[in-house]
Amino acid sequence: MSKFNVFITRPVREEIHAKIAEECEVDMWHTSAILPPIAEKIPPLDGLMTYGHELVTPEMIATSPNLKVVSVVGVGYDHVHVEACRERGIAIGHTPGVLSDTTADMTMALLLAASRNVVPADKHVQAKQWLYYDPNILWGYDVHHATLGIVGMGRIGYAVAKRALAFDMRVLYYKRERRHDWEEELGVEYADMEQLLQTSDFVTLHVPLTEETTHMISKAELELMKDTAILVNIARGPVVDHYALYDALKEGQIAGAALDVTEPEPLNTDHPLLGLDNLIVAPHLGSATIQTRMKMMTMAMENLLAGLKGEQLPYAALQPNLSP
Ligand code: DGY
Repeated sequence: MSKFNVFITRPVREEIHAKIAEECEVDMWHTSAILPPIAEKIPPLDGLMTYGHELVTPEMIATSPNLKVVSVVGVGYDHVHVEACRERGIAIGHTPGVLSDTTADMTMALLLAASRNVVPADKHVQAKQWLYYDPNILWGYDVHHATLGIVGMGRIGYAVAKRALAFDMRVLYYKRERRHDWEEELGVEYADMEQLLQTSDFVTLHVPLTEETTHMISKAELELMKDTAILVNIARGPVVDHYALYDALKEGQIAGAALDVTEPEPLNTDHPLLGLDNLIVAPHLGSATIQTRMKMMTMAMENLLAGLKGEQLPYAALQPNLSP
């Protein structure tokens, strides 16, 4: 029996590649450099594994009449054209759950770094400017007992709330469907967006990217925030209007921001945001730990192999009807 044709968009660990290669003819983009649009690169496929948010477009899908599965190494699959997959009966796999704690850790890392000037402090010392103890430099903002507003209270938001409560923070959350059970369990408080933005010292974003959430934080929302507040975006770049954010940071409308995700990714090296000293940017590292990335790759491999055989995906974002 001939092997399945599979393309993997970024280098995966050798052991994952080897397991897939037992059952598939694998073509893999071997560098971490930017991949050209997938359709230009590959022959007709049976399976595709995306590991870097590469766009999976209707045009790309049309070039592979036998495509059975798109396996995403990640929880978000906004880069995959879901409708085109649905029409063609193509399964979409993703890796939910396994990265929630890791992403929540990174949220706290960014929140703490931004509030306590960790990056400017390091730059100060590295630039050999630490010549004596100066009690008047790099004052930050207290995290403990401050108010955190969580926008998008799913698995990651929940994990962030638990960490924030350990810092004695008051936690507000906004979500389309209110979670009375979590309010009772954790003591978090539901707020509408306006209340949350007006009241919070820190706002963290955890919503999926949809039409509704695109630029959900823009000029009007930033104007509602306190001038001492810090915004953390670890969801998707386009959730925040970057030009409005630039103005807000420049004019001191908010105190600072930390972005793990940007629009576009990567930011152009001459992007105005990169010149600001009240902004930290990380290159999309939310789930980037050795343990979590290994789990994600393993789950994505299991999804890929199941989808190729026409089986139920263990972690399905979209599962077409299976033939009896
Ligand atoms: C996710 O899981 O969606 C992260 O952004 C990593 O791809």
